[in-house]
Amino acid sequence: MSDHHITFHAGTVTREDREKLLGQKGLVVWLTGLSASGKSTIAVEAERVLCGMGRAVYRLDGDNVRFGLNSDLGFSEADRMENIRRITEVCALFQDAGVIVLACFISPMKSMRQVAREKAKPGFMEVYVKAGVEVCAKRDPKGLYKKAIKGEIKEFTGISAVYEEPETPELVLDTEKYSLEECVRKLVHAIIDASSF
Ligand SMILES: Nc1ncnc2c1ncn2[C@@H]1O[C@H](COP(=O)(O)OP(=O)(O)O)[C@@H](O)[C@H]1O
Ligand SMILES: [Mg+2]
Repeated sequence: MSDHHITFHAGTVTREDREKLLGQKGLVVWLTGLSASGKSTIAVEAERVLCGMGRAVYRLDGDNVRFGLNSDLGFSEADRMENIRRITEVCALFQDAGVIVLACFISPMKSMRQVAREKAKPGFMEVYVKAGVEVCAKRDPKGLYKKAIKGEIKEFTGISAVYEEPETPELVLDTEKYSLEECVRKLVHAIIDASSF
């Protein structure tokens, strides 16, 4: 970047100053899992509960960011990586502001989640929202599995593209085993734990 003649200009207000002001630690909560595993449903509820508890929290969700920030990106491998790269940068900015970010992205590759983890150090929580492809295809809230099985969507995670399961996530929410309320309770508990002084 030296050829662009840019220099980082640091401020005097730190992340710690902002966290003290908010009374919480900034945290990136990265929810990964198949489409229809429950990432968005759980995050919406967790956001409501945490907000009610006085926590500064913000949700970033897959499709939502493609309407604005990433509206210029498609679904090629390069665009998917760029999608995640920009999202991790946004997560890091929110975290630097002292906010708890709920990031809901399928993020099927370990390398994508690793990028997010590295960027967010310290204060990163990988949450595996777990449900098998058969259950997800049966839920199919957006009708995407139906299309993918017919071959109308190329490289659909779980059907025609691989999902690399997290090996050591900080939390697993098994949505086949536990109700929405139970999953939200577990998640909120872990977030409060990790974001408190
Ligand atoms: N325990 C659970 N947690 C979250 N969602 C669940 C659970 N059990 C069933 N569901 C249903 O699964 C679907 C999950 O969809 P969604 O949240 O859009 O998934 P994703 O954001 O991962 O693609 C919803 O229709 C939801 O009602
Ligand atoms: Mg979703």
